[in-house]
Amino acid sequence: MSSSTLPKCMRAWTFSSQGLPRDILSLDHSYPAPSPPAKSNLLIRVSCVGLNPGCYITMATIPPLVRRLLRGPTSPIAEGEFSGVIHLAGPAAPKEFAPGTPVFGCLPMMRLIAGEGTLAEYIVIPSSLVAVVPQSMSMVQAAGLSGAGQTALNMFSAVLVKEGDRILVNGGSGGVGTMVVQLAKAQGAYVVATCSGANAELVKGLGADQIVDYRTNKPLHKYLGLEYEKQPFDAIFDTIGTQDLFIYSPQYLKPNGTVVNVGNFEGPSMTVFRSFINTWLPVFLGGIPRNYLMISTTPNGNKAARLGQLVEEGKLRVVVDEIVEFEDVLRVSIASNKLEKWD
Ligand SMILES: NC(=O)c1ccc[n+]([C@@H]2O[C@H](COP(=O)([O-])OP(=O)(O)OC[C@H]3O[C@@H](n4cnc5c(N)ncnc54)[C@H](OP(=O)(O)O)[C@@H]3O)[C@@H](O)[C@H]2O)c1
Repeated sequence: MSSSTLPKCMRAWTFSSQGLPRDILSLDHSYPAPSPPAKSNLLIRVSCVGLNPGCYITMATIPPLVRRLLRGPTSPIAEGEFSGVIHLAGPAAPKEFAPGTPVFGCLPMMRLIAGEGTLAEYIVIPSSLVAVVPQSMSMVQAAGLSGAGQTALNMFSAVLVKEGDRILVNGGSGGVGTMVVQLAKAQGAYVVATCSGANAELVKGLGADQIVDYRTNKPLHKYLGLEYEKQPFDAIFDTIGTQDLFIYSPQYLKPNGTVVNVGNFEGPSMTVFRSFINTWLPVFLGGIPRNYLMISTTPNGNKAARLGQLVEEGKLRVVVDEIVEFEDVLRVSIASNKLEKWD
């Protein structure tokens, strides 16, 4: 493959204003294709893209001016997770990343916010952010592994889980939650997970010992207080950002236990605000007497490779909700619906 095989233009899903994907995303058929990669960067022909809430939350909450400052005048591209085949490798790229190699990975938050998206035919990305797709993994699975998987790995780096620990996973059926359930189980924990009743069998199949249907057991914190007061949890892995779950946690979380959170569906500013309050407000001023940790993912190729290895070993699997063609992205309005749920 050479730079002469690179088209001048490509298709990409772009946006220029702030809002829900279905209102602002459009398919550009003549977006400038990236130039041949410099240094150790890789130019990748994208195979599949994972559609994640992180993208639509930032689309709905980050003002266009911020993106413009970060990116310049070119329209932002959506999404941040991908699998694809290396088309061209920069002169300093590691040998394992030769043209033709299937790879996967995801963008760090700042690149996502800047709109350096992956929902396009070609992307350029530093080789330090990608890993080779293991033989047993499909490109579809690979595209859904990196973002949620690395977030889950980071949660376990922050909170050590021992065999026999009792763990609550809030949002056990989501991208991050399905990974957390499997990783907690692999460490020998007793796992209780929240999800809708419709997803109960799926989450049990991933290893959860008990399911709590958050839709029928309302309010969730009250149910947890009644059910788990005598057998409190060692840690709560909150992939949803349910603030009441932390506020009432002394009723069902051990005194030295930790709530670890990765964000919420209301956007980055609420995440930062709650993180500050939950972490620093002293108890005598109304703070909650439990540890609180907010995790932000800093993805890299090594962590992606570790996840690939776990999949190869049969210890982790990627749950794929639905596969849609590139042109039909707007049909998957899950993103929009989910955000509406939180309006
Ligand atoms: N900090 C980071 O670096 C980082 C990285 C990745 C993701 N995130 C954040 O993590 C969050 C989750 O991402 P994701 O990819 O896992 O999302 P997702 O795949 O869209 O899953 C969300 C899940 O939320 C569940 N849910 C909705 N309302 C709920 C409630 N009130 N209580 C319990 N569960 C509820 C749904 O379960 P049912 O379908 O069963 O109802 C769904 O499975 C997002 O806020 C995302 O931005 C942060």
